[in-house]
Amino acid sequence: MTQPFVAVLMGSDSDLPVMKATLEVLDKLGVPREVKITSAHRTPDATHRYVKDADQRGCGVFIAAAGLAAHLAGTVAGLTIKPVIGVPLDAGPLQGMDSLLSTVQMPGGIPVGCVAIGKAGAKNAGYLAAQILAVADANLAARLLAERQANAAEVVTKDQALQQSGV
Ligand code: RP5
Repeated sequence: MTQPFVAVLMGSDSDLPVMKATLEVLDKLGVPREVKITSAHRTPDATHRYVKDADQRGCGVFIAAAGLAAHLAGTVAGLTIKPVIGVPLDAGPLQGMDSLLSTVQMPGGIPVGCVAIGKAGAKNAGYLAAQILAVADANLAARLLAERQANAAEVVTKDQALQQSGV
C-alpha cells in the first residue's frame, strides 16, 4: 500500500509566505505532500475536482488555508470524509478574526479542525496532520517523538544559558 499524502491547499499565492511553515514541517518529518493554490470562491469547480481526485489518489489529510471570508476548509470538508485542518490567515483589516470564525464555525456533521491564526497555526497544521497519519505509521510516530524530545532539550539548553548569563 502506498503511503498516504497530505494535500496542502491555499486560496491565493499571497498565502504562501505563511504556509511555507506547514510545508517545512511536513518535509522535515518526511511526510509526502502536495501543494495547490485553489479558491473556494474564485475557482470552485477546480477546488471540487482537486479534492475528489486527491481523495481517490490516497490523500490522508487535507490542510486548507485562507484569509478573509475563509470558506476553503469548509468547502473541502463538505467534499471528503478525510480529516480536514483549517488554517485561518490574517489577510485584511480584521487581522484574521474574520477568517478564524469562517473556518471554525462549521455546522454539525462537517468538521474542520481549526488551528491558530497565522504562522503558529500553519506550523501546527503540519504537526497535526503528521500526528493523524502517525496513528497508522510507527516510523512517523518515532520521528514525531524524537522531534518533541529535541524541542524539550532546546528549552532546557536555553534555560541553562539564561541562568549562566546572570540576568
Ligand atoms: C483569500 O483571500 C485568500 O486565501 C487570501 O488569504 C485572501 C486574499 O487573496 P488575494 O487577493 O491576495 O489573492 O481567498
